[in-house]
Amino acid sequence: MKKIIIINGPNLNLLGQRETDIYGNKSFENYLSDLKSKYTDVEIEYFQSNIEGEIIDKLQEVGFSFDGIILNAAAYTHTSVGIADSIAAISTPVIEVHISNIYAREKFRHNSLISRNAKGVICGFGLQSYELALKAFF
Ligand code: DQA
Repeated sequence: MKKIIIINGPNLNLLGQRETDIYGNKSFENYLSDLKSKYTDVEIEYFQSNIEGEIIDKLQEVGFSFDGIILNAAAYTHTSVGIADSIAAISTPVIEVHISNIYAREKFRHNSLISRNAKGVICGFGLQSYELALKAFF
């Protein structure tokens, strides 16, 4: 069975209550349980942290054994050389995802430091971005 992990960065623990006009009103926990019941032939782990170093620790921990990583680094997408370097350092492929279309938003969101080390990028499809990334691993 393939092992995939979804890693969510800062403020994504507030999905469902945070800026619902942009991010929707469904909590990630609800979405995740739907996703798990739809894809029973995949082992889907989940990790969320608001702390940059914890995201790096998790990438290193899973990055040599899992089959795929779906990463929404949230605000760290635009700032973190550390996360970009860990994606380059590990062997598990990483798909970068965003719920919103970062290119249709403020200019500072247009630059992702992590895209060049990612296998691919999916953004702008709401929570469905995660499912599209999952499908991209098969
Ligand atoms: C986000 C986009 C980022 O710019 C923002 O900082 C987030 C969420 C998204 O999923 O649309 O927190 O990664």
